[in-house]
Amino acid sequence: MENIWNAILNLKEAIKAYPQPIHTCWINGDTAVVHINKEPSDLNRTILIHCDNEAPAVADVATFLLTSVGNITLANPKGFNEAEVLFLKKYLPYCFISLKAKRLKRAITITHFAQTLDAKIATNTGDSKWIGNSENLIHAHRMRALCDGVLVGSRTVEADNPKLNVRHVTGKNPVRIVLGNPNSDFKSLLNCSNEKILVFGKEKLKVSAPLESIVLPSKCPKFGIKPLAILSKLFQLGIHAVYIEGGAKTTSNFINSNAVDILQLHIAPMIFGSGKASITLPNIETVKEAISFQEYNFLPFGDSMMFTGFL
Ligand SMILES: NC(=O)c1ccc[n+]([C@@H]2O[C@H](COP(=O)([O-])OP(=O)(O)OC[C@H]3O[C@@H](n4cnc5c(N)ncnc54)[C@H](OP(=O)(O)O)[C@@H]3O)[C@@H](O)[C@H]2O)c1
Repeated sequence: MENIWNAILNLKEAIKAYPQPIHTCWINGDTAVVHINKEPSDLNRTILIHCDNEAPAVADVATFLLTSVGNITLANPKGFNEAEVLFLKKYLPYCFISLKAKRLKRAITITHFAQTLDAKIATNTGDSKWIGNSENLIHAHRMRALCDGVLVGSRTVEADNPKLNVRHVTGKNPVRIVLGNPNSDFKSLLNCSNEKILVFGKEKLKVSAPLESIVLPSKCPKFGIKPLAILSKLFQLGIHAVYIEGGAKTTSNFINSNAVDILQLHIAPMIFGSGKASITLPNIETVKEAISFQEYNFLPFGDSMMFTGFL
């Protein structure tokens, strides 16, 4: 699987850098070599991803189709086993995020929670380690490697002391992004690497590298800085894909502002019966008002499962 993973990482970088419209992408599952808009000479262990309807069909090659919301559907799994196909289904969609970011001129967001069956992400004392299983931990590191930035709220920094880097898989560290509280203790982030940390707040902080303070105005004190303003600023900084790792207040704020593109919920087989709810939004009165998804899937993750919804 390592070669397929490297091919996915290479594809993500190639798509981000590609200046022209993309019709077809080809990755080799053994050599990790990538071709864009150009059929490779060796089709052995090759995967073709069609990005639009104009691309011609190629027989006898494992083929995926990119859907209009950025999901991937399988047209032909030839030459790849069930585990490889599941892996491709999980991670190929994130290679194409740059296309949407360039179109919308803002960073595209994928938000992730590990939650209980009753939708809790922490106990009332703030304990959340570990609701997700080991497959979910590795998944989070894969997602960090596939994204240019990883974003959390200040209270998650305080409660969890996260490092937010890539340790469990190969891949580049994302830019770390923190929203909020100037009094946050950044020790856990600073101790693990001296790579850039962007701190978005309403006031300029007296911080030195690798911390960088970015001030954006907040018109509404209750909700803080507008999420879409944060995403426009991140795009200007070259960040096309952002992995939002919580907590509840931060993610709920993004969802409420229509600033979440893909929602990942790792559902663990446990019930708290109390604790911190993953998503809290303004009251609705009818089922018709519920947020629904253009496309979604439920995929197995060890003893648990992951819901992925495309908004
Ligand atoms: N199970 C999981 O997957 C998971 C994942 C992450 C976290 N957690 C848990 O979630 C808990 C923390 O969640 P939480 O809801 O209390 O807090 P949070 O979302 O981590 O942080 C909230 C704070 O972030 C800042 N913030 C968020 N959005 C902002 C915006 N648009 N503009 C400016 N600032 C913004 C504000 O900081 P200021 O108030 O400082 O301005 C806000 O109070 C912890 O217990 C953690 O363990 C669980």
